[in-house]
Amino acid sequence: MDPELIYLDNAATTFPKPPGVLEAMMARYRQIGVSPGRGSYDRAAEAEGVLHQAREKLARFFGAPDPDRVIFTANATDSLNLVLSGLLQPGDHVVTTRLEHNSVLRPLHHLQQRLGISCSLVPFSGEGFIDPDDVAAAIRPETRLVVVNHASNVLGTVQPVGDVGGICAARRIALLVDASQSAGKVPVDMAAMKAYAVAFTGHKSLYGPTGIGGLVLHPELEIAPTRFGGTGIESSSRVHTPRYPHRLEAGTHNLMGIIGLILGMDYLMGRGLAAVHGRETVLTERLRAGLSEIRGVELYGPTAASNRVAVLSVNIQGAAPEDVGAILDGDFNIAVRVGLHCAPLVHEALGTARRGAVRFSLGCFNTEADIDRAVAAMALIAGQHS
Ligand code: ALA
Repeated sequence: MDPELIYLDNAATTFPKPPGVLEAMMARYRQIGVSPGRGSYDRAAEAEGVLHQAREKLARFFGAPDPDRVIFTANATDSLNLVLSGLLQPGDHVVTTRLEHNSVLRPLHHLQQRLGISCSLVPFSGEGFIDPDDVAAAIRPETRLVVVNHASNVLGTVQPVGDVGGICAARRIALLVDASQSAGKVPVDMAAMKAYAVAFTGHKSLYGPTGIGGLVLHPELEIAPTRFGGTGIESSSRVHTPRYPHRLEAGTHNLMGIIGLILGMDYLMGRGLAAVHGRETVLTERLRAGLSEIRGVELYGPTAASNRVAVLSVNIQGAAPEDVGAILDGDFNIAVRVGLHCAPLVHEALGTARRGAVRFSLGCFNTEADIDRAVAAMALIAGQHS
């Protein structure tokens, strides 16, 4: 990695990966990189064992009762599509929020057009939190599913999913939690949240590579397969197996990605999730405090440090976010993400639907010096635009 680069785009993907993860991933894959669950030879059995151990570890991590209900996917978008398309039927109603990413909004829009489902969108407060009572009020007799973004990729706010889960459980409605930005930052416990499904990705705060994600399901939630193919079992049947996890997995797995995901999680757990989150919170506060002192900088999202992850979106008055991002990159070697962050309804509510914002998102390798350099760079840019 360029030693001078200050990487503050960890909500898109964490970078770099922890020391040794990529090397260990390659070494393990070099040893056992065969097709898991297909061959009768030792290495195939070992590769299958890696998958099984990974499912067990992920089930423990997400507080899920059954490792066979841990489904490997390509990323959180893939997992969300799997639940939405495999569950919803014509006439179903879905309650979701204005905090959602396009990974929820677009599949729902598609199913509205294709199946005639309907959706209600719950608003969020000025600070970026939904009110569980609004979820309760939006539920109808035909509501089949509630979908909530656990941590916003624009505002960093962590939603009261436990309260939402209680409301859903009392009405026997399934709750799907999008944990793209929360898994690895704050506890994501299915039982505590009373969630029926959790979608996560490996390449963000779990410190794995891109291309691997997953879906964790409660045993009472049946998802119909939307992809069919080889599973290594029941090969004589033309019907895709109804047995989990194969029911929702078709074709050869991303073994290298799964190995990398587990190595990334091991690193994170070695440092301690709470310790990493605590440190990132301190740095986010430092960033927020520094930016709030600069004339012309508008900050979005909560002022308090509680119930948030290390994401902060801002604008400089009179400057286009894409220009700010280009100057941060070109003149200061600071990587951020600008624009709408695939969450157009969040920006609509913030009044930034046309221009978007500049997003800083931190990871476990950021330092105080990174934050101070980012604040100093923003002060210089703001000074030029005042
Ligand atoms: N969803 C990711 C982000 O917020 C890519 O940047």
